Amino acid sequence: MSLIVSHISKEYPVRSGSLRILCDCSFELEAGQSLSVVGPSGSGKSTLLSIIGTLEPANSGLVFLDDIQVLSLSERDLPKFRRHKIGFIFQEHYLLPQCTSLENVLIPFLAEGRISKERYNRAIFLLERVGLSDRLEHRPAELSGGERQRVAIARALVYEPSLILADEPTGNLDRNNATIIGDLLLELSKTTMLVMATHDPLLAARTTKQFQINSGSLVKT
Ligand SMILES: Nc1ncnc2c1ncn2[C@@H]1O[C@H](COP(=O)(O)OP(=O)(O)OP(=O)(O)O)[C@@H](O)[C@H]1O
Ligand SMILES: [Mg+2]
Repeated sequence: MSLIVSHISKEYPVRSGSLRILCDCSFELEAGQSLSVVGPSGSGKSTLLSIIGTLEPANSGLVFLDDIQVLSLSERDLPKFRRHKIGFIFQEHYLLPQCTSLENVLIPFLAEGRISKERYNRAIFLLERVGLSDRLEHRPAELSGGERQRVAIARALVYEPSLILADEPTGNLDRNNATIIGDLLLELSKTTMLVMATHDPLLAARTTKQFQINSGSLVKT
């Protein structure tokens, strides 16, 4: 397992020319490691995560995930690559309101056909793993904010991703729930890799590697 982010730059075209967001950002991560990115609002944290997660193109630079050159994957190969290799966790959980916790965790499997008994059991195992074995049949509206985020984490793990990308995963949570989610993500990162954008200095301080975005550059804190 490895992630190499090499010399990533990103600009957005604006009427007066171009707006430079990221400039020559590089880091490396291996199995069991976690990395936090802090920086003020608008500094480019989500943009960096979106580029690593293949949701947004970069102007220059390379990203290798498990030796696959991510930014050159074809549109055809991208959905499966994302599904299997990357677990996305956002500030908003994006659960389907009409579906139960269990159904929400099973959803990524639907993209690949029937849900086998093995996959069904894996979804239940993951919900147990995040402490929700007695909330399988609850719909998102019947869960607390922290519980909803835990369902989203379980969903992100169904295909055993190499990389977890978490964009302000505790942004909507109170301190107590933020600690629970932070503990869970850091525990999970021991067998995967975690890249996390956060405004929470306590959470950022707990990762293996710590960076700040400063005028578009990624600097160690
Ligand atoms: N499509 C776009 N066109 C032009 N500018 C954009 C576009 N998308 C994002 N930006 C700009 O890029 C900058 C970085 O945005 P980004 O969402 O990465 O910030 P962030 O560090 O995640 O902020 P926050 O902490 O508020 O989530 C912002 O100034 C934003 O206005
Ligand atoms: Mg953001």
